[in-house]
Order: sequence, then structure tokens, then C-alpha cells
Amino acid sequence: MSSARTNPVGILGLQAGEEVNPLVDTAEAGPGVPLIRLRGIGKTYGQGETAFQALKGVDLDIAAGEFVAIMGPSGSGKSTTMNILGGLDQPSSGRYWFRGVEVQSLARDERARLRRRYFGFVFQGFNLLARTSALENVELPLVYRGEPAVARHAAAQRALEQVGLLSWAGHLPSELSGGQQQRVAIARAIVTQPQVLLADEPTGNLDSQRGHEIMELIQRLNLEQGITVLMVTHEVDIAAYAGRIVRFVDGRIASDGPNPDRVGLPPARLAAVTEAR
Ligand SMILES: Nc1ncnc2c1ncn2[C@@H]1O[C@H](COP(=O)(O)OP(=O)(O)OP(=O)(O)O)[C@@H](O)[C@H]1O
Ligand SMILES: [Mg+2]
Repeated sequence: MSSARTNPVGILGLQAGEEVNPLVDTAEAGPGVPLIRLRGIGKTYGQGETAFQALKGVDLDIAAGEFVAIMGPSGSGKSTTMNILGGLDQPSSGRYWFRGVEVQSLARDERARLRRRYFGFVFQGFNLLARTSALENVELPLVYRGEPAVARHAAAQRALEQVGLLSWAGHLPSELSGGQQQRVAIARAIVTQPQVLLADEPTGNLDSQRGHEIMELIQRLNLEQGITVLMVTHEVDIAAYAGRIVRFVDGRIASDGPNPDRVGLPPARLAAVTEAR
């Protein structure tokens, strides 16, 4: 591409020497263009007689800044949908646009870049490296990105500070509680300043109080930093933090609507968020 620029300053997620790709790096979600749009998404695992249809035509629009909880019975397709959204898996049918760009039209390395640039992931089992300090765990996505050590340390410290764990930076995961480990995992997810946080049962391994602490943190990331959050949960009182609740049943969306009882917000803020929608 003759108009390509190389390694611009300030474009996150680009490795040194990587060219700007107008599709991935500068496409914008504008008026009428949702951040995420799924149409008729199907996913079939296996072939022939053992084929299993995990998704049977999912339509979903998500605007920038939303906080969406995804609920539904085990096996209903929640994680499959999250994996497709984050580019970890490909649909078998249907179309997916991210910021107006059709994801299937991108080459594999472009999709990887989209993932690196825009998405942070948090899972139920914190997935931290065991023999590696909290700080180094948080730095990891920046190592993959080829950032110099000084910038990496600074960004990882900032992220740990945001989750309230700066003083634990030198500790190993085994020296941290479950709630603290999940906060390190969240710091690792946001150290790249993603636009979207995909959290698959982030409180699933935590007791109720730790779970609510994690939710308050995720809530803050959504409201104060404008990070779009999609979160799978089985728990009604965890989903209550979201502004919108989508329910999956048997590979389809069974219901989708605003959550009028969103918790954890000061009343004035709640009114503003509800009005804006
Ligand atoms: N890699 C795979 N190969 C075959 N089948 C799969 C695969 N991944 C998921 N499935 C099947 O697809 C269906 C949907 O799985 P998915 O993980 O999306 O469910 P879920 O809604 O996240 O459930 P849970 O609440 O238990 O996490 C399930 O029946 C599952 O067995
Ligand atoms: Mg799942």
C-alpha cells in the first residue's frame, strides 16, 4: 500500500516497524455505525453426524461505552460468542463488523492486530504466570508488542495502581488472594488501553464479597474510562452492575434489554447514564 505510514507514534498496538493499516487502525465507529455488529452469526463445531450448532443466528449491536451482561444456561453459547467477538474464534456463518470493518474480510494477522489493539480479556481462572511477579504479569502484553522496558514498567505500574495493587507489584500470584489475582488479571487486560473489555465469568472463582469488589472495579473502568464491557455471568447480582442484559438460550438470544435496576452507581450518575441511552 503506497500510502502506508510506518510505526507512527501514538497508535497503540502497533509493533515497531509495523505499517498503519487504514482498515484496522483508523476505521471509526461513527454515527449509525455501532462499535460491534453481529448479524446471523452461526457456529458449528465438528462435522457430519457429530456436528453441533453452538450458535444459531445471533444478531447483536453494541455501542461504544456500553456495559453488557451476558447470561443464560450452561452450553447456550455465551463463551462461543465472546470468543468470536474477541477474534479468538471464527464464526461458521453470518457477519461481524467491528468499528464498521467486516472482520472476516481481514487477513489473519490483521485480525490478530485488531485483537491486540482494541480488546482486553479477563477469564474466570485468572491465568497468571505462576513464577512471575504481578508487575511482570501485567507487562506481558506490552512485551509481545515490543515496547521498551522503561515504558512497559511505567504502564504496568499505572495499571496496577488503577486496580489498587501497586504496593503488591513485586509479589508472586501465589502470595495474593483470589480477588487480588483477578485484579492483577484486570490490570493486565487494561495495560494496553483497550476499547473493549471481554470478561467471561470474571467473578466465577471468587466469594461474594471479592466478586462485588471486582464488579466495582469493572464498573469504574466502564464509567470513568469509557471502556465498553461485555461480561458473562451466571449470577443475577453480578449482572445487576451492567446497563443492559442479554440472555442466551440454546444458541440464540432470547431476550435483550436495558437493566433498569443497575446497581453500584451514585443516583445522579445512574440518571445520567440512563438518560444518555
Ligand atoms: N471447541 C468445541 N468443540 C465442540 N463443541 C464445543 C466447543 N466449544 C464449545 N462447544 C459446545 O458449544 C456449546 C456452547 O458452548 P459455550 O462454551 O459457548 O457455552 P456457554 O454458554 O459459555 O456455557 P457455560 O455457561 O457452561 O460456560 C456447548 O454445548 C459446548 O459443548
Ligand atoms: Mg462459558
